[in-house]
Amino acid sequence: MSSRTTRRSFLTGVGVLSATAAVATAASCANGGGTDGDGTDNSGADGAGGTGTGGIGDTGTVTFDGPHQAGITTPLQSHNTTVAFTLRDGVDADGARRLLRLWTDDARRLCTGGTVLADLEPELSETTGNLTVTCGFGASFFNRTKIGNRPDWLEPLPKFTGDRLDNTWGERDIVLQICGDDRTTVSHAVRVLVRGGADYARPSWSQEGFLDIPFDTDGQQGTPRNLFGFKDGTVNPDTADEQDEHVWIGEGPLAGGTCMVIRRIAFDMPEWEAADRITREVSMGRTIVEGAPIGGEKEFDEPDFEAFGDDGLPVIDTNSHIALATATGHEDTDPLLRRAYNYDLPVTVSGADDLVDAPLMDLSDTGLIFTCFQRDPRRSFIPMQRRLAEGDRLNEWIVHVGSAVFYVPPGTDEDGFWGEELFD
Ligand code: HEM
Repeated sequence: MSSRTTRRSFLTGVGVLSATAAVATAASCANGGGTDGDGTDNSGADGAGGTGTGGIGDTGTVTFDGPHQAGITTPLQSHNTTVAFTLRDGVDADGARRLLRLWTDDARRLCTGGTVLADLEPELSETTGNLTVTCGFGASFFNRTKIGNRPDWLEPLPKFTGDRLDNTWGERDIVLQICGDDRTTVSHAVRVLVRGGADYARPSWSQEGFLDIPFDTDGQQGTPRNLFGFKDGTVNPDTADEQDEHVWIGEGPLAGGTCMVIRRIAFDMPEWEAADRITREVSMGRTIVEGAPIGGEKEFDEPDFEAFGDDGLPVIDTNSHIALATATGHEDTDPLLRRAYNYDLPVTVSGADDLVDAPLMDLSDTGLIFTCFQRDPRRSFIPMQRRLAEGDRLNEWIVHVGSAVFYVPPGTDEDGFWGEELFD
């Protein structure tokens, strides 16, 4: 963003859009997703999880029960609808327990091709499409139900420089992240769960995202692109050992669970489109076409943050996104697992005539639903975001507008329900 005026109109645009966008439907023509897998490990830590090839009619099924909830290390699916809920007045620990039992049972059936009791449209979930449902609890869930063992990191994140947070996408009691490769199945699952839990909780926000996931000739997932054009998701803890170390809580009453941070990050597309490709690549620290770190050749080449060029300057700009985000070389920072989805909403200001003269920003409501998982945000998201908020060159074109943190309990056994151990 080149001037304060532009930044103001950008931010105003975001506010206007959130208030007036008539229909919040994520545009998506995605047709990818799903991976090979043996379906025995719901975490997908070894690439297990989906069994389909992606696309409409994909019957891939991700195992529901297991040591960790699915939808975290599971290979990316094409669609993500994340819904946050507020418990209804008077719902106490007993009510929450009933809700979670009911939701877990419904989610298990939906994800594994079963029929939800009293579902009037069961044909809408015949195609499992690698469906996963991941449940998390906000700080207020622990306060309201008075159940114990609230993680000590579970509280709203500190305010970061540049935040323009809108409670429209803020902290809530419970979250359900519903991901899949079949858009109809995802929509149906959302309705079944919202309807099923209606006596206990009402939906309070929902965010929809999409990814177009490339596959190579062996059916291996490649890295999808965000709407700035970059491959997004290259550096992630992707082995079971790395995930045990950085994603899953290792011991104590919360073991097997994780912390989920959801940030809604708006993009200023017109200003980004005004930047040349070199500026974009320097700001990211990576090339656009290959996704290689600057100074490298291939996407998975190790970035060399210590290298200097002939001009005496660092090869990777020290204020580039990857130089500041990386855990490498930052002792206060542990890696986190990113699972970001694009959003790109139709913009309706107040009829087509108004659009003719609308400022450019008003014609774009685009960005990233940046979801990440880690053992402890104080060691991962918070130090990373502090550095990014202060110095990231990308800040010229982005603004964080939503923020929420949840504890995601471990996975279930076949008769269990989410968070059961907290109620014992
Ligand atoms: C609009 C916002 C953002 C965009 C467009 C974005 C995009 C990207 C891209 C394209 C990469 C390089 C490829 C890759 O490794 O995936 C990357 C890397 C990374 N990003 Fe972001 N990101 C955003 C926000 C964030 C936030 C909020 C965090 C955490 C606080 C974060 C953490 C990371 C990390 C840890 C890496 C890997 C760095 C490394 O070790 O090389 N990103 N991001």
